[in-house]
Amino acid sequence: MNYSLENFCMDTKASLLSNPGSSGRKAVRAHLEKLLLNEAFIAEFLETQNRGKRVLYHDPETDFYVNAHGTDEGKRKGKPHDHGQSWAVYGQATGLTNMTVWDRTDDGSDPDLAQISERETFPLTPGKAALFDTGIIHSTAHPTAARWVRVTGTNLDLIERYAYDPERHRKIRMRPSL
Ligand SMILES: [Fe+2]
Repeated sequence: MNYSLENFCMDTKASLLSNPGSSGRKAVRAHLEKLLLNEAFIAEFLETQNRGKRVLYHDPETDFYVNAHGTDEGKRKGKPHDHGQSWAVYGQATGLTNMTVWDRTDDGSDPDLAQISERETFPLTPGKAALFDTGIIHSTAHPTAARWVRVTGTNLDLIERYAYDPERHRKIRMRPSL
């Protein structure tokens, strides 16, 4: 039997309840790679997601969200950003996400300064998932059309988090994408 969205949500809830720290989130990453093997799930929930995002599930007890994301644009590059006090697991369904992880290189003592430098870039290919734990700064690039799933610890639109401008050495408070 295929590993369904319902199976994924149940396993994710169980992992987050039994392991509230990093190890629970690593388990979520592994569960998501199982879900991404389910072609019927991708056909039903991702194929039509040609832009923006859609909530597929929210767990009221642990507050995690499962979102479908997509773009048909191509040559799309996002700003470096954090996920505030939350975390995010990205899982690729179709196409490619080039993921870049950034290091914060200043000590945070100057409120007007935020310096970051690139640590690594890796391709997230279909079937693969990656965890960006609390405090990690990353950016995404989609050279072609792509579909992906993002699981977050809470609603990122409701928490304090920042985008970063590596050229101007600034961080900018991210506003809800209503
Ligand atoms: Fe992100």
